[in-house]
Amino acid sequence: MKVKGFIKDVGGASRVTKARLNAFETASPLPVREDPIGNVAREWHPGKLDLVVTEIREASKTAKTLRFEKVGGGKLPPFYAGQFMVLDFPMGKSLISRPYSISSAPWQARQDKGFVEITVRRSKGDGFICDHINDNVKVGDTFRGLIGCGQFYYEPLRDAKHVVALAGGVGITPFASMAREVANGTLDMDLTILYGSVSSNDITLKAELDKLEGEHVHVVHVLSGDEPDWPGERGFLTAELIRKYSAPDTTYFICGPQVMYRFLHGELAKLDIPRRRIRFEVFGQAKDITQFPGYPMACKDETYQLTVVRGLHEDVIPAKATESLVVALERAGIGIETGCRSGECGFCRTKVLSGSVYICPENDGRRGADKDFGYVHACAAYPTSDVKIKIPIV
Ligand code: FES
Repeated sequence: MKVKGFIKDVGGASRVTKARLNAFETASPLPVREDPIGNVAREWHPGKLDLVVTEIREASKTAKTLRFEKVGGGKLPPFYAGQFMVLDFPMGKSLISRPYSISSAPWQARQDKGFVEITVRRSKGDGFICDHINDNVKVGDTFRGLIGCGQFYYEPLRDAKHVVALAGGVGITPFASMAREVANGTLDMDLTILYGSVSSNDITLKAELDKLEGEHVHVVHVLSGDEPDWPGERGFLTAELIRKYSAPDTTYFICGPQVMYRFLHGELAKLDIPRRRIRFEVFGQAKDITQFPGYPMACKDETYQLTVVRGLHEDVIPAKATESLVVALERAGIGIETGCRSGECGFCRTKVLSGSVYICPENDGRRGADKDFGYVHACAAYPTSDVKIKIPIV
């Protein structure tokens, strides 16, 4: 029986080989002109695009919304409500990239004059690019940008129909995108946004969110500051408040400052919410790496030598123990591709040839094999000795 099967297989394979050879011999020598699959792939994943700022408006007393269209016009690539875009900023010798959650809806990008919007709040002293955007960027300025990154989006096969979004500060932006998509009827879920702000002046995108209120979108503003005339909810996004707005089966999406993430971990634990029902937006670059568990405090004031291998070229630059490898490279004007700057996307994947680094545990998005073979995400890796790394030439 087995011998018979084997002979059949050999016979079948030789027939296929013959047919292939015949196809090669009779094929046209002209190049293939149509590539329908490639065309779809290029439309959906065009890589970095040239974008122009076409509108800037106030989103609150401390934040601005910027609208981007494709240079030359046309549709923009699709993305999920909740994803972010990466913008490049040439700064002197360096090219610095920053991720920003998209606050407009996917349907608005797919129109003939498609656009995406980001909403950026002025920093509290630790974000010079945020201040640069608020102070210097004007209509007509152009940028390179990558649209549609990240895993923070609603997936009906995984998430419950009822979603409670827990937002703080400018963390409202991915939920503004989701609310717009739901209000347009192109995203099927019931969205309740619990939006924590210190004062009513801090509420970002308030007027636009008010307009989206409807059968499937509900926005609850929660103020933690002392504002005697405030008619709505007060305090923080506590377990009690979250329970009040939850349905029996709810998925929780969380986006806000790092301190809020820690607080909400505790509050959701009090409600016994299963982990699969909780989605966090990426954590962002650690504000103070020395505060994370296991950080070797003996290193914190050190500046190490970072040897950077690119092709046949080697540079030796200083790298502070409390700054990520990405920051050290950018300070030295050495280009490295970045996206999320939160250890998730892998754009900054780097091989450590020698030396040791501390990996921020909240931002360790490496694959298991990368851990085994000495790769790190440079945005989440901090030197704890002299280090030698190998990065691609960009
Ligand atoms: S920039 Fe995304 S992992 Fe480093």
